[in-house]
Amino acid sequence: MKFFLDTANLDEIRQANEWGIVDGVTTNPTLIAHEKGVDYCQRLKEICQIVPGPVSAEVVGETKEQMLKEADRFLGIARNIAVKLPATEQGIRALKVLAGRGAMVNITLCFQAMQALVVARLGATFVSPFVGRLDDIEDPGMNLIRSIRTIYDNYGFKTQILAASIRSTMHLIQAAEIGADVATVPYKVFAGMLKHPLTDIGLRQFMDDWHKAQQAMSQLPPNVV
Ligand code: G3P
Repeated sequence: MKFFLDTANLDEIRQANEWGIVDGVTTNPTLIAHEKGVDYCQRLKEICQIVPGPVSAEVVGETKEQMLKEADRFLGIARNIAVKLPATEQGIRALKVLAGRGAMVNITLCFQAMQALVVARLGATFVSPFVGRLDDIEDPGMNLIRSIRTIYDNYGFKTQILAASIRSTMHLIQAAEIGADVATVPYKVFAGMLKHPLTDIGLRQFMDDWHKAQQAMSQLPPNVV
């Protein structure tokens, strides 16, 4: 499973990128709004310079024409831009045009499997089912990932399942078990991916034992050493 970072914050992207496992970045209007006053296109350019993999840029237009106009602006920023379109009728009309031109497209706000089937038919590069937001309404989000995986495997669709709205390490493990192609991860969840209390306790124990042994050695008379 590939990892994208779900943020528009440059410090977070630089930090996470040092791990060597960041395959791309996803942004959205809310994440950009968190970055107080930054210019969206300028920020996308900076992100694309740090991460060579796909960087999703989301349109805010409501019609196909508005979406395509924004898409043209985004696609002019860098070769690794993926245009993020909503899973709506206007969104799929824009998808048809962009996929026809060979552009990378990420279909966002996917909450049911038919949306995923339709956009795969139209050649979307990624589909983003929102796991956490389904969990929030008591509809287990992983069921949607499983259902899309089954449908895509039945027909050999190449569209990549990009598990989004990820809230925990458990979400990542479940998405990987089901076979999501990518998970987009908020920095806080990314930074916690290696955490286990027994790892910390075990490491502390090893270090303590090591230092105790070193100290005992240093206290032996020189001829014994
Ligand atoms: O990329 C968008 C998606 O990951 C949103 O997550 O936590 O706002 O539901 P969240």
